[in-house]
Amino acid sequence: MEDIVEEILRLKRERNAVILAHVYQPEEIQEIADFTGDSFALSRQAAATDADTIVFCGVRFMAETANILSPDKVTLLPAADAGCQMFTDALEGQVRQARADHPDALIVSYVNTPASVKAMSDICCTSSNAAAVVGSLPEDKDVIFIPDQNLGGWAEEQCERPLLKWRGGCPIHASLTVNDIRLARIKYPQALVLMHPECRPEVRELADYIGSTSGIINYAAKSEATEFIIATEEGVLYELTERCPGKEFHLASRHLLCPNMKKTTLVKVRDALATMEPRVVVPPEIRERSAAALTKMLSIKG
Ligand code: 13P
Ligand code: SF4
Repeated sequence: MEDIVEEILRLKRERNAVILAHVYQPEEIQEIADFTGDSFALSRQAAATDADTIVFCGVRFMAETANILSPDKVTLLPAADAGCQMFTDALEGQVRQARADHPDALIVSYVNTPASVKAMSDICCTSSNAAAVVGSLPEDKDVIFIPDQNLGGWAEEQCERPLLKWRGGCPIHASLTVNDIRLARIKYPQALVLMHPECRPEVRELADYIGSTSGIINYAAKSEATEFIIATEEGVLYELTERCPGKEFHLASRHLLCPNMKKTTLVKVRDALATMEPRVVVPPEIRERSAAALTKMLSIKG
């Protein structure tokens, strides 16, 4: 009898589907994925794939991005209720107001925003290219950075340019404290601290390296160091241990777990492929405008 993984692989072939998974996904999902990566790498993959169906194992904004970049393909989001806690539904109205209040400013929106907000933005960014995106904008323009104030602050520091920062943030990364890092350093004195830029500024000051999830994984793989304190969502430990045999990883806190990222299950992936639901379809009028902001981002060298 076919087990669930065999069933998924068979359905994937029958549907000519590709499975994309963010590196915060549960281990068993990353294991069956054709491609794992950070938000930026997954957007590129979604734009380049020649599959007919994209199964997005991640949260809604990622599947929306895939649908915006590849509108002729079916995009499935097995965990239909997986959102991102970085913003509320009020964000769209607030951004519209900001546009009216600052008509000459440019809007950079983090790829984590809903498609409707991307559609009101001049350009998108991810955590791997925020500084490069901000640095690419004309210096005589005000820039509104939406919605993660910590990522915005990090881009500000790198570009030495003040931004009009939104007050949003990722509750998972923002929960990390200076004390968490100090305690981890006492416990693991040899370890380097690798951190995501969504962490708060006073916590970021204590990092040895700051980068996106793929940046963190690549840094650990290339580093001569053998022990690391990881300051991002715990899902990255799967790829870190795969890519870095013999190296040791310790999570900076036990609260680094995104409940939405853990909503994908093998059963949901199997059912999505079997029924071709739930689909994510971005309406055409929003898609065209959000595609412009995403395509502009993809053209920037990170
Ligand atoms: P990356 O941009 O590093 O993939 O992670 C951001 C994130 O929190 C995705 O939810
Ligand atoms: Fe959103 Fe944070 Fe979860 Fe990423 S880790 S999906 S930013 S809540």
